[in-house]
Amino acid sequence: MSLNNPARSTVAPTLTVTLPRQAYQYPIYIQPGVLGRPLASQWVRQALPTAARLLVVTHEPLWALHGQPLLAQLQQAGFAVTVFAVPQGEPTKQLSWLQAVWQAAQQAGLTRQDGFLAFGGGVIGDLTGFAASAYYRGLPFVQVPTTLLAQVDSSVGGKTGINCGPVKNSIGAFYQPKLVIIDPQVLATLPHREWTAGLAEVAKYGLIEAACTGQAEIHLWPLLTQCADREAVVAQCAALVGQCCRIKASVVQQDEFEQTGLRALLNLGHTFGHALEADGEYTTYLHGEAVAIGTWWACVFAHQHDTFTPLQAVQAVWQQLGLPTAPWGNHQPERLLKAMQQDKKNKAQGGIMLVLPQDPLGHAWVAPGHRDKTVLAFLQQQLALAPNHIE
Ligand code: GLY
Repeated sequence: MSLNNPARSTVAPTLTVTLPRQAYQYPIYIQPGVLGRPLASQWVRQALPTAARLLVVTHEPLWALHGQPLLAQLQQAGFAVTVFAVPQGEPTKQLSWLQAVWQAAQQAGLTRQDGFLAFGGGVIGDLTGFAASAYYRGLPFVQVPTTLLAQVDSSVGGKTGINCGPVKNSIGAFYQPKLVIIDPQVLATLPHREWTAGLAEVAKYGLIEAACTGQAEIHLWPLLTQCADREAVVAQCAALVGQCCRIKASVVQQDEFEQTGLRALLNLGHTFGHALEADGEYTTYLHGEAVAIGTWWACVFAHQHDTFTPLQAVQAVWQQLGLPTAPWGNHQPERLLKAMQQDKKNKAQGGIMLVLPQDPLGHAWVAPGHRDKTVLAFLQQQLALAPNHIE
């Protein structure tokens, strides 16, 4: 294919994210099996019309499993592709790996006309997006999320970055991709823990749908209640991913830079979750596992404060999906409280800010100013319920 005359795909995007800023918009394609078809590389060519070189950031086992068909197509579409593998897991979201990606880009000879492609989960998407945002002051990048968590949340919306010390995602940029390609079929090989971690974000979207869309009618939670096991979730996967992306796109379109409080709703469960992750040194929990526990805690907290009734319904879905409700790391309530106070999302003056679910199910709000004493007592109570708790 000629670089000057890219073939036009006639397939309409599943969704389009339209940002008022600079009238910027990008397509999200959700198509089972697409990574094995030439369509995917046509979309990449449309998104990066001038690119001759592409740096693909991924991790090795994943690339071995799913990368070859895409590689062949990208090459056919005229891209000189360099594949750079990084280790799996949250500890990769650090400065030394960011630098390694930039060095790989230099060695691959990327110019300002070229681009990056993130092929992997949330860690790879965040790292690659941030690398792209600063390389030659910003090269375009494409997201090809391959975990459930990345497909339903992190690949859409332009949050990119790395961790610094105990504060998660503290260094980063809002930097939107040019294109998101989602192939739910790749989830078939997702390890069990990654699968559960992704479901936590899906459940989170179920709990905030009405608050995000402004419409009383909710679709995601009823769909989740019908998912009795992994098989049932797999059967509904494209619908679940599509619904989450729809909610996320609508939020990002209205509050791209998390300024009005709308995008902050996506942090349900994350203040507790980030504290667990940090206190577990980013190795005890996958992000989604910590979010599952954090979201459950937010539901219990709201229930105890009489603002959220349907705790049993949440518990039933948590059980059905196999989501954890208690931590398994070695935590002290005081340490968790300190991590919550340090969380970059905790902007409230004079107290901890929590996103909490609200009646009726599907609603949520950003609740500021919880006293340290109240939060500490709650953490003590919840940690005492954890199976490996030692007095
Ligand atoms: N993952 C939350 C957000 O993108 O705002």
